Amino acid sequence: MARGLFLTFEGIDGSGKSTQSRLLADALRDAGHEVVLTREPGGSKGAEEIRKLLVEGDTNRWSPETEILLFNAARRDHLERTIRPALDRGAVVISDRFADSTRVYQGAVRADLRQTVDALHDLIIGVEPDRTFIIDMDPEAALKRGLARNSGEDRFEDFGLDFQHRLQTGFRTLAAEYPDRCALIDGNRPPEQVAADILPLALQALA
Ligand code: ADP
Ligand code: TYD
Repeated sequence: MARGLFLTFEGIDGSGKSTQSRLLADALRDAGHEVVLTREPGGSKGAEEIRKLLVEGDTNRWSPETEILLFNAARRDHLERTIRPALDRGAVVISDRFADSTRVYQGAVRADLRQTVDALHDLIIGVEPDRTFIIDMDPEAALKRGLARNSGEDRFEDFGLDFQHRLQTGFRTLAAEYPDRCALIDGNRPPEQVAADILPLALQALA
């Protein structure tokens, strides 16, 4: 893919990804970079419409297989309309979640479907971030933070605390699978301290 820099944030629900994405975008803009801050599911008009189908409603609204298709449909639109054009003009793209979320949520925790997830990713997406920050934190505290937002987008939070524990294990396993790309960041600290660990890694990736 043509060359800006593609950074992603991953982690369990409520771990502080959106907060850290914003702080990193501000810091890189202050340093003079063009930054496109985006998120999944969503990040383009069509993908934001698909997002509503995924994050609202009953936990059993979709099977894991259907979720894989919907997340990939949203991701393809996001890639075509937002990520690729930004990277082509040399911008830094920061995405709050990307394909690693599908690997962990649908590939390992909702169901044991990693092969399906990987096959579809290779066929339809075929792009990996340059660097991924996985925010690792206590699932109980993260779930409380997430639900306190009252966002009406709690379909995945509603799977419960045990689900969040299994997600934490899934993200730790993923970090070990891609040690060069993924950095595991301790999210059990004030936001500024978490951000202070991330910025040097992002600047290193830019250099
Ligand atoms: P995510 O995007 O991972 O769901 P958010 O960044 O939206 O997480 O954070 C979830 C909630 O927790 C928000 O209300 C946010 O203000 C708060 N929050 C984020 N980071 C921290 C932190 N390091 N310490 C305490 N609260 C935080
Ligand atoms: P998000 O808005 O990032 O939720 P949160 O702020 O609670 O972390 O993402 C919505 C939900 O979608 C989140 O619970 C994780 C889930 N998700 C998947 O299950 N698979 C995916 O591929 C993606 C991108 C998200």
